[in-house]
Amino acid sequence: MSPDDKTTHPDGTPPEPVGAEAPIGDAAPPEAALPAAVPAAALSPMPVRLLMVGTGNMGHLQANGFKAIEGVRLVATVDVSEERRGAFNAEHGVETGFASIEEALAWGEFDAVTNVTPDAVHYVTTMPFLAARKHVLCEKPLATNYAHAAEMAQAAAMAGVVNMVNLTYRNVAALNEAHRLVAEGHLGEIRHFEASYLQSWLTQPAWGEWTTSPTWLWRLSKSHGSMGVLGDVGVHILDYASHAAGSPPSHVSCRLATFDKAPGGRIGEYVLDANDSAVMHLRLANGAVGVLHATRFASGHLNDLTLRLFGTRGGLEVRGSHVSSHLRGSLGRDMLTGTWRDIDCPPVPTNYARFIAAIRAGTGVLPDFARGAALQKVLDLAVASDEAGSIDLAV
Ligand SMILES: NC(=O)c1ccc[n+]([C@@H]2O[C@H](COP(=O)([O-])OP(=O)(O)OC[C@H]3O[C@@H](n4cnc5c(N)ncnc54)[C@H](O)[C@@H]3O)[C@@H](O)[C@H]2O)c1
Repeated sequence: MSPDDKTTHPDGTPPEPVGAEAPIGDAAPPEAALPAAVPAAALSPMPVRLLMVGTGNMGHLQANGFKAIEGVRLVATVDVSEERRGAFNAEHGVETGFASIEEALAWGEFDAVTNVTPDAVHYVTTMPFLAARKHVLCEKPLATNYAHAAEMAQAAAMAGVVNMVNLTYRNVAALNEAHRLVAEGHLGEIRHFEASYLQSWLTQPAWGEWTTSPTWLWRLSKSHGSMGVLGDVGVHILDYASHAAGSPPSHVSCRLATFDKAPGGRIGEYVLDANDSAVMHLRLANGAVGVLHATRFASGHLNDLTLRLFGTRGGLEVRGSHVSSHLRGSLGRDMLTGTWRDIDCPPVPTNYARFIAAIRAGTGVLPDFARGAALQKVLDLAVASDEAGSIDLAV
């Protein structure tokens, strides 16, 4: 993928996320079920005017996701880069653009915000919208540290607005089905898990040349707000594993590694000091233990997520990539012979669809900012553990 390729993105969400078409929770009944006298307009879902902040790589993918939802209109964008903003608006037919969030707030003609800026500015660019009581979908990780993430969660709760973190793999049908099977007790008590998120954009150029592209370079630099692979995709696999296991982490230890990648460890303004590989050992509140790792050096893997969960009554394996996901299990009598079978997974609506549905229904939605903050706390502790020699820390 080149940085300009809008069909997928650095975290590799499927280009056509499962179930994107249909907003959920829309109270309007199907058109065919109503008397002919009711005008079609009366059936339209509540219009939602959306402002996008940050029009880079992921912004394009989000725009396509929101376009698929009836009644949602991307009315304006904000980007500090006039060039990117202009090109984006031309491509997606957006009429209004601003250079700052202050200008957008002064204008005010929108109901909800999707924040697709780099991690470093999620906090400063989200807080003013919460103060203005706008609904916010924020990209992951919610912030660059727990203090900011917790403040964002509290501000969102105080504002009483819909708040959601775009943990994209909640769109994965196999993950949701694994979560359901665990929650309904089909695996018995969860005892053990292993989870990995494998990328390789540092060893091959399938997604573009990282050495010359800001969209990759900021991800390698602490001073640009990156928590390395841990914050970038480690947050996804942490959410993935603990969501499926149905229990939050209670203890964490971690080892991080940053490898030499360029002469003097820098490229232009980017000091390449953020971690490239992260290896964690976790205990969950339900007593299960497991390992979880993420890297950008997994040569041979473009974007592969794997989770294996083992309970007293069965095991599950969730495999996913940027194109598909797959669930198989060894449950009940199959455990006696170590037989594994494929499990059908019903489609799930996208985060975009669920965010809009929550606005229309006036309800909350998960994963919310509180979940984003809880994950951020674990990430912060993982860094602290690594700095202290990989000691075990209570969450
Ligand atoms: N959920 C996912 O699966 C997923 C996938 C990819 C990226 N992301 C997240 O999306 C976010 C953006 O990533 P990206 O790859 O699109 O980055 P990018 O660098 O390609 O784009 C970011 C854009 O934000 C703009 N920007 C920077 N500071 C700004 C500010 N203060 N106000 C307005 N605009 C500003 C930049 O000019 C740029 O156009 C990151 O937080 C990243 O972690 C999430």
